[in-house]
Amino acid sequence: MKNEKRYLTFALGKGRLAEKTLDLLESIGVTCEEMKDKNSRKLIFVNEELKLQFFLSKNPDVPTYVEYGAADIGVVGNDIIREENRSVYEVLDLGFGKCRMCVCGPQEAQELLQHHQIIRVASKYPNIAKDYFYNKKHQTVDIIKLNGSVELGPIVKLSDVIVDIVETGSTLRENGLDVLEEICPISARMIVNRVSMQMEADRIRKLIGMLREKIS
Ligand code: PRP
Repeated sequence: MKNEKRYLTFALGKGRLAEKTLDLLESIGVTCEEMKDKNSRKLIFVNEELKLQFFLSKNPDVPTYVEYGAADIGVVGNDIIREENRSVYEVLDLGFGKCRMCVCGPQEAQELLQHHQIIRVASKYPNIAKDYFYNKKHQTVDIIKLNGSVELGPIVKLSDVIVDIVETGSTLRENGLDVLEEICPISARMIVNRVSMQMEADRIRKLIGMLREKIS
């Protein structure tokens, strides 16, 4: 007797990214009706027919679930992928959730980035900040980890500059800060567990193919 298909499990970063991912999946016929009930407190949602499961998690946890195989597939920004540095395959740029990882601060701070002096850098992304300053700019810096509203750093003189995401630029503008240097472009990426990529190769490759065709 042929083995029953096992569930393919998706971990999606909570919020706008998850909504856009679900819209994209729906456009290729991969739906999850259960997830549309906004009042539900359920944590995991199933599409019995397609043998799929979906759950939402905090963005930084998505690569963790995928590395350990608790999810076969994850969708999260490459800011998180780079910061968390988990052992997963990054298989597809989904093309939405576009923004930029930048060094930002008041214009006067531009000078501090030119002369390899020790400065203070506040960020939700300490690993990305460290990698950029140490390995790319060869500048020794003091990195201060924050958990949000990072733009406050230079305003209250906690730090000289910040490393953060810039999408529309309005948070910077409204707080008298500018982009001083660009580190890398960011967008939503699909990641896959290394073992699942071998064991479920047919299903996962088919899915990637359909998504690639849809977004091209
Ligand atoms: C992100 C980021 C910036 C802002 C950039 O913060 O950290 O603060 O969005 O967007 P903009 O360029 O369109 O203004 P988020 O809203 O995730 O909240 P947080 O500050 O609590 O991290």
